[in-house]
Amino acid sequence: MVKFKIDNKVVEAKEGEYLLDVARRYGFSIPTLCHHEALGSDGRCRVCVVEVKTRWRKRIVTSCLFPVSKDIEEVYTASEDVKLVRRTVLELLLARCPESDVIRYMAAKYGITEPRYKKDTDKGKCILCNMCVRTCENIVGVSAIGIIGKGPEKKISPPFREASDACIGCGACVAVCPTGHIFMEDKDGIRLIWRKRFELAVCPKCGRYHAPVEQLEFISKKTNVPMEELLVCTNCR
Ligand code: SF4
Ligand code: FES
Repeated sequence: MVKFKIDNKVVEAKEGEYLLDVARRYGFSIPTLCHHEALGSDGRCRVCVVEVKTRWRKRIVTSCLFPVSKDIEEVYTASEDVKLVRRTVLELLLARCPESDVIRYMAAKYGITEPRYKKDTDKGKCILCNMCVRTCENIVGVSAIGIIGKGPEKKISPPFREASDACIGCGACVAVCPTGHIFMEDKDGIRLIWRKRFELAVCPKCGRYHAPVEQLEFISKKTNVPMEELLVCTNCR
């Protein structure tokens, strides 16, 4: 175990543990946009920066991917330099996603209401945090979406920008997206998502539309739970 300070409080952590996890365990608040407990970190948003002081120097690092080592003496979660970098990151994110409530809220906490940079109007609310892609691949296990394009053209999409055969319409990507970018609509027994239409199953007990039939079939195949059981909604089980 390694001992060091976070904002003047002595903490203990395993070597190799990420600073964000240690800080949160001790109750420090560090904002994040691309980290999720179930998915881990991807180091994309840079909102989680902190300042690390070692024997030799001080520097700004992304806490979600910075491992604890014996060299660390103190970590600062809200120093002037941390605030400056975080402000810049949020200002850039706000320029990229001016419509995102989450980004607007976070930026406003750092005094930014209007970015100085040119606003991007093409990207909707997507900050390319990759959480939807990681959820689809690692949690759901279908890999229906990914990052396509290069440079400024990068976006999240099913392959070839077409409805993906792999997508089961579960909506896990919608649930995990921090900015509300992904469009999903349930209407008259049909779910629309990623340019694909899914028939929603009707619960035989309460008559409510609940999950896409394709999703239930996928779960049934994976778990061997019969479809008759899965067709009953979670409220009625
Ligand atoms: S759609 Fe949402 S979850 Fe996916 S990369 Fe964009 S912001 Fe992140
Ligand atoms: S949470 Fe660390 S880079 Fe996004």
